[in-house]
This record gives sequence, structure tokens and C-alpha cells, in this order.
Amino acid sequence: MQDISEYLVKNKERFINELIHLLKIPSVSADPAYSQDVINASEAVKASLLEAGCDIAEICETNGYPIVYGEKIINPELPTVLVYGHYDVQPADPIDLWNSPPFEPIIKSTDIHPEGAIFARGACDDKGQMYMHVKALEFMVKTNQLPCNVKFMIEGEEEVGSENLGTFVAENKEKLANDIILISDTGMIANNVPSITTGLRGLSYVEVEVTGPNRDLHSGLYGGAVANPINVLAKMIAALHDENNHITIPGFYDKVEGLSKEERAEMAKAPFSLENYKKALDIKAVYGEKGYTTNERNSIRPTLDVNGIWGGYIGAGAKTVIASKAYAKISMRLVPNQDWKEITDLFKTHFESLAPEGVTVKVTPHHGGQGYVTPIDNNAYKAASKAYETTFGKTPIPQRSGGSIPIVSLFEKELKSKTILMGFGLDSDAIHSPNEHFGVWNYLKGIETIPYFYQYFTELSK
Ligand code: BES
Ligand code: MN
Ligand code: MN
Repeated sequence: MQDISEYLVKNKERFINELIHLLKIPSVSADPAYSQDVINASEAVKASLLEAGCDIAEICETNGYPIVYGEKIINPELPTVLVYGHYDVQPADPIDLWNSPPFEPIIKSTDIHPEGAIFARGACDDKGQMYMHVKALEFMVKTNQLPCNVKFMIEGEEEVGSENLGTFVAENKEKLANDIILISDTGMIANNVPSITTGLRGLSYVEVEVTGPNRDLHSGLYGGAVANPINVLAKMIAALHDENNHITIPGFYDKVEGLSKEERAEMAKAPFSLENYKKALDIKAVYGEKGYTTNERNSIRPTLDVNGIWGGYIGAGAKTVIASKAYAKISMRLVPNQDWKEITDLFKTHFESLAPEGVTVKVTPHHGGQGYVTPIDNNAYKAASKAYETTFGKTPIPQRSGGSIPIVSLFEKELKSKTILMGFGLDSDAIHSPNEHFGVWNYLKGIETIPYFYQYFTELSK
């Protein structure tokens, strides 16, 4: 394959500017105030696919935000790669903590990104990583060396649980038929330690509501005599973990697959500095399930976390009040084999059982999905590994991630295809947080590496 370096040097500025254009569209799928922007982002993605050389690019309507589909079919006999990504982004809040406005991208260098990083919501998750694929296709089409067929499916509801994607996939199996699904929506260990994500955790996300008295009460007149929903909620949440930070929900661990000593030893070989980890987060100690290392806790073990909690008076000054209601949003990260619907039911039954008589509890499931482990003994992994070797000069390390992309297991079920996760972001890129960014080096490295995946995958498929 013709070396991409020259093409990159020539087009680098434009590649960055095009991404910046996309990042300026505040396509926040969670907030209806941005609905027109989300739709505008889908149009922008469609236009970019046509520009890059797709023969077909279309907006596919769903009951929610549209899915952008594109394809470049050069020969039906050749392998087909289906690229999945998302053009929606997380809300930018808390906005005060951003050093520059989230939808006015700027490039600044950091210790980890001396060549500069693009700061904007969605820079890494997932506009920047998705757009690497658009530019990789452009390179291969413009230089006439695309070795296989490519399809794109870019959705706009990933950050809110991909609710309409399942139906779309089930109804369009023919259109989406492929030999491998390729996703860049994860990360790697470090710029000098490439890795390929070989696992994703599942997810069950619920909201709980605890109701006490029928109205807010004076905390002097009633305090001590009626259940305070906030006190009760705090107690109930605390009871979800034991002193070893094991989750106490009966049956929660029943299907969790234990890793063998050998597998754990293999995992422990990945370079990791606990000191740097703590330093980067300004914490004195890590915290988690007894008997497991930090890297195990955040990848192969299931977890339960409160993501938000509210109720009562949170305005200025002090107001003496016992609130009528208290709320929390709780996520459980699951490992392969744990069924997210089953876990949601177990949570509901257990959480309700924790409530004292003086309150009522409502558990509302939000969304969820299954975990996934990718095989490493197939052609797709081999092709990806070789691609990294070519452009990083190092063999990538297989590593299971703690994040979730629930539709990956659904793709396997509906389309019978495996997924390969080639992520180029870093954990320090602050996805979902203020000051999200994506290294310019990482962006260009992705564009450089992806074409080799196509080449090696096609060769190995012969
Ligand atoms: N791209 C992330 C998932 C991710 C990030 C996986 C880094 C591995 C490494 C994705 O956009 C995401 O945020 N997923 C959500 C779940 C979704 C159902 C809202 C998550 O993991 O919280
Ligand atoms: Mn993502
Ligand atoms: Mn995300």
C-alpha cells in the first residue's frame, strides 16, 4: 500500500479543520433543547461520507435520531467491513469547569499531547474517532487502493442507550451484511503502548425514588418522628456494598466468570503505574473490591455506582426541611454472561426489600446492555494487530475495557458478526468530563492505521 505520510502532511490542516467543523455542532442527544443540532450533525456526517468517496450515503429515519448509512462497494466478492460510530455527544455540564467553551474547539498542547490536542465535547467520544474512518476512506479512495468494501453506520443515540438501533439492525440485516464490524470508540493504554480493546462491560442503569411524607416538612416539628427519605436513601445505598466492597444484591455474582490465575497473570503484564494513576486523579489511595487489582476492578469485575443523587434543599444558605422525596441514579457495570435484564430485576427486588416501612420505593430501569469479549485468535484481530505493528512499530496489547458499548453484543446476535475495537483515545482524554480532548497525534495515527487494517484483513480473508 502506498505510504500515507505524504497525504497526511498535505491534508493535515484540512483534516483537523473538518473535524473542528463537526465538533462545533452541539449534538447532545440527551437534551431535547439540542434536537435540531443532533439532526444537523447527521447531515454533516452524511455529506462527509459522500465527500470521502462513498457511492451511497443516506439518512435513515428511526423513532429517535437518524442513523447515517454509507457504503463503498468495490466488488461483492471481496470482504466487507462495517464501520460503526456515533455522532451524538454527552451533555457538556458542568459547563463552569471547562477552560474553553465545549463547542468552540481549540487546540492546546498538554504533557501527554505535546503535539496538541483538540479540546471540545465529542473530540474523542466519538466524533474524532469516527471521523478518522471517514478520512481513512478518503485516502484509500482518492489514491485508488481500497482493498475491500466498506459500509458505515453512524448513529445519534449511543450516549442515551441506542434505543432505536436494535430495530434498525434487525430490519436491515441484508443492507448491513458484513464480514467484520470495526469500531473506534474506546481507548488504548498510552501513545507508546498501543493496545486493542478485547472486552466491554455490560450495563444496567436504574433510577430510584424514595418517598416519605406527602409533603416537605419542617425539620424541627417533624424531625426524628418520620422517616427522612434522604437519610433512608443514603442508608439503602450504603447497604449495597459490604465492608469488602462486594455488592450485596443476592445472586448478583452468580454468572460472573472468574478468570484463571494464568489469565490474571497475563493481564497483570500490561504496563501500569499505580503511583501515576493516583497522581493523575489527585487521590491518596485507590478504592474497590477486596482481592482485585485496579485494572481488574475496572474491567473484569462488575461494579455498582451512584451517578447522581438529589433531594431536599440545595439552594443558597440553609433551609430546615425534611424533603418528601429523594432520588438517585445508579449504574451497574456488568461482565460477560451477566444478563442485564436479570440483574435489573435482582436490583429492584433487593432495593425494595431494603426500604423501611415509613417510605415507599420506586425503581425505574433506564437502559442497559450486555458485555462483550472479542476473540483474539481470528483474522480480524490478527489484521488489527498487524496494522498497529506497522504504524506504531510495536505489537499491541489485548486489554479489556471497563466501558460499555451495548450494541456490540446485539450486532453479534443479529448480524452474526464479530467486532474489532480499534480505539485511539486515552483514559486521560476526559471523555464525558469537562475539557474532553483528543490528541492530534492520535487522530492522525488512527487515520494512518485504519487503511492497514483493511489491507491485512482482506489479505488474511483470502
Ligand atoms: N465510547 C464510550 C464507551 C467506552 C469508552 C468504552 C472508553 C470503552 C472505553 C461510549 O460512548 C459510552 O460512553 N458508553 C456508555 C454507555 C451508553 C449505554 C450510554 C458508557 O460506557 O457509560
Ligand atoms: Mn462513545
Ligand atoms: Mn460516551
